[in-house]
Amino acid sequence: MAVVFINDRIVSEREAVVSVFDHGFVFGEGVYEVLRTYGREPFLYGRHAQRMRESAARIALTVPFSDERLLGWIRDTIAAAPELDEAYVRILLTRGIGEFSYDRRACPSPTLVIIVKAHVPPAPAASKDGVRVALVDVTRNHPRSVSPLIKSNNLLNNVLAMQQAIGRGAFEALMRNYRGELCECSQSNVFLVRDGEVVTPPIEAGLLAGVTRAFVFELGRLCGVPVREAVLVEAHLAAADEAFLTSTTREIVPIVAVDDQTVGTGVPGPVTRRLMAEFRTQTERFVREHAEVFPVGLRT
Ligand code: PDD
Repeated sequence: MAVVFINDRIVSEREAVVSVFDHGFVFGEGVYEVLRTYGREPFLYGRHAQRMRESAARIALTVPFSDERLLGWIRDTIAAAPELDEAYVRILLTRGIGEFSYDRRACPSPTLVIIVKAHVPPAPAASKDGVRVALVDVTRNHPRSVSPLIKSNNLLNNVLAMQQAIGRGAFEALMRNYRGELCECSQSNVFLVRDGEVVTPPIEAGLLAGVTRAFVFELGRLCGVPVREAVLVEAHLAAADEAFLTSTTREIVPIVAVDDQTVGTGVPGPVTRRLMAEFRTQTERFVREHAEVFPVGLRT
């Protein structure tokens, strides 16, 4: 069961409703963030909060609270779900309630929703054996249309791509940008490995600046794996030794096939596994460091 914070109250899943006049519902006008906890503490919170501010700024939406205040509300909402082991936290900020007008002045105050539910990791087989993704024919939004840099509540581009992948029995939908280059998946970023080097499409290719994506650059430095940005096309997929995807809820998941084409040897490769191990080391460290400040039992 989910626990939900709406504007200033924490309510149960059943009571969690917003007005049909909210522009988030009527126009899809709003932004969101997804973060998760390790040791019941939000991970990389500062980066998610910063990205939410940047998404909001791109649609001229004022964020009327500080990062500290928001973190307090997130912690309160998590505390109201003591049965959860680890939490999935979805923060939505919409334009708010107002007349059916695109004029921002129609909506005096944004709507803030924080949804806390159980974090569901990918099936163990996904991490162990890798997954197959589908290269779909839905083009990622043009950066000068609804920029993929905006983590927008308007997710039709992503939904349409993922629905194609689901139809083909794939774990994720890999998309190309308007130039035909690989850019990202419907809910995750993509990386290829070639000759020991890790490459991922540049932000300029039109993709979400994933928090996990940026973290992979740091993991690479920590464990001695070079990671850099590079323009990637389909031919690079065929030539890759390994591939993987990243997101907050999935961490790092090896990609072993794209449609009918095997990637590398068809099993998770050594570079991907090294980064996965370093990820685990860092999250374990985070839990230990956090536990020192808030001993288990006193955390809520
Ligand atoms: N998805 N690209 C897209 C289009 C995404 O929606 C996401 C995140 C990512 C990865 O970003 P991050 O590493 O910051 O999670 C890339 C979230 C998890 C979601 O929509 O549920």
